[in-house]
Amino acid sequence: MSIEEIIEAKIKPRLVEAFGRQTGNALITEATLAYVSTDGSEGERVAAFINAIRFDERVINTWGDEVAAVEADEWFSLLRPYLESEEEAESARILDGRAMAEEVREEIVAAVGEFEDKHGFAPTIAVVRAGDDPASVSYGKMIRRSFEDAGMHFVLHELPGTSDQDQIIDVVTRLNAQRNINGIMVQEPLPREIDDIAVKAAIRPEKDADGVNPINAGRLAQADPVGRQGAVKDYLVPATPLGGLEMLTRAGITIDGAHAVVVGRSNIVGRPMSFLLMQHHATVSMCHSHTRPLGSVTRGADILCVAVGVAELIKADMVKPGAVVIDFGFNKKGDKWVGDVDFDEVKKVAGAITPVPGGTGSMTNVMLMRNVLEAAERQVQRRRK
Ligand SMILES: NC(=O)c1ccc[n+]([C@@H]2O[C@H](COP(=O)([O-])OP(=O)(O)OC[C@H]3O[C@@H](n4cnc5c(N)ncnc54)[C@H](OP(=O)(O)O)[C@@H]3O)[C@@H](O)[C@H]2O)c1
Repeated sequence: MSIEEIIEAKIKPRLVEAFGRQTGNALITEATLAYVSTDGSEGERVAAFINAIRFDERVINTWGDEVAAVEADEWFSLLRPYLESEEEAESARILDGRAMAEEVREEIVAAVGEFEDKHGFAPTIAVVRAGDDPASVSYGKMIRRSFEDAGMHFVLHELPGTSDQDQIIDVVTRLNAQRNINGIMVQEPLPREIDDIAVKAAIRPEKDADGVNPINAGRLAQADPVGRQGAVKDYLVPATPLGGLEMLTRAGITIDGAHAVVVGRSNIVGRPMSFLLMQHHATVSMCHSHTRPLGSVTRGADILCVAVGVAELIKADMVKPGAVVIDFGFNKKGDKWVGDVDFDEVKKVAGAITPVPGGTGSMTNVMLMRNVLEAAERQVQRRRK
């Protein structure tokens, strides 16, 4: 029902019943005038409509103040559901990572089936973990579940937290040589004294499931813009920024020609995200902890991607009205998880925004699966040459 229909069906008959047809109609006409002549939100205009009746002399004289207040409350509750849907329409479009991840997952399940029919085996990821960091343990379990549910294989290589660098690199080197392993991921954090760069460099680039090897990072940095055939190909990109790009694409956001601002320059999220956006023809600005003032740069963004690790750092006044906001942050605040963007405030300004949880985080896992499937396809093709 529209607001006009509610007034016609519920409020007008009540006024006609209480004050007669002529006065009832006159009250509605005067209240409608108050509605149209009020500036502000739909809620403010509806309040002007109801108050014009509630405080009318004829109404107070007949009903008294108390009954008039009760009637007005009832009309507000009748109109509230309509107003809430209006408010929702005024706030940002929520980019639902869970729904998009499910779409990607279904595509992967179909592609894995075809791959297996064609080549006689399903792709396999090997996950290497040194130590028992609880977050890594549960992330590992999640990877296992999602790979196995999609028809792929998962093998775990657990090493003690006391392992040294050579022992970890040994495991990686063996996995590099195993034909049945198509993707390798070394979980972080690694024990403190281990040089993570050396471990990442030890993963064969073709099997580097999360795109952390410097050769893959370099290839991404040197890759041609989309639509231009360059020499750089067959590289793997970290799953999290790949998921951010996938969300933009699936949501139909125009990247070409947009001003994209990326906050955070880590090798795993911010930096590769900036290269992906540039590859898709955005003009990219990078921000980090030395950017001052941060808001003056972020306010210029048509597409704002944030990967900082500071709860709700990005406030509404740092966002251009109508901007698309991709929040990679995942931070504990009290007993709930929040992003790097103040979701409740920013959604009132932005044109589209990813929630936390249920945004970019949901995409990471499926992009990891897609990477391993792609890696397996390239490995099969290479063996045939
Ligand atoms: N969605 C996912 O699947 C996923 C995956 C990975 C990470 N994450 C989340 O993404 C967030 C970032 O992770 P990360 O690994 O990229 O973090 P990181 O390696 O700690 O990098 C943080 C980046 O943010 C910058 N920064 C810190 N404080 C800042 C400030 N006040 N203003 C502007 N820039 C600031 C840092 O600048 P400097 O370079 O100057 O130090 C750095 O470049 C975390 O919340 C993490 O949990 C999510």
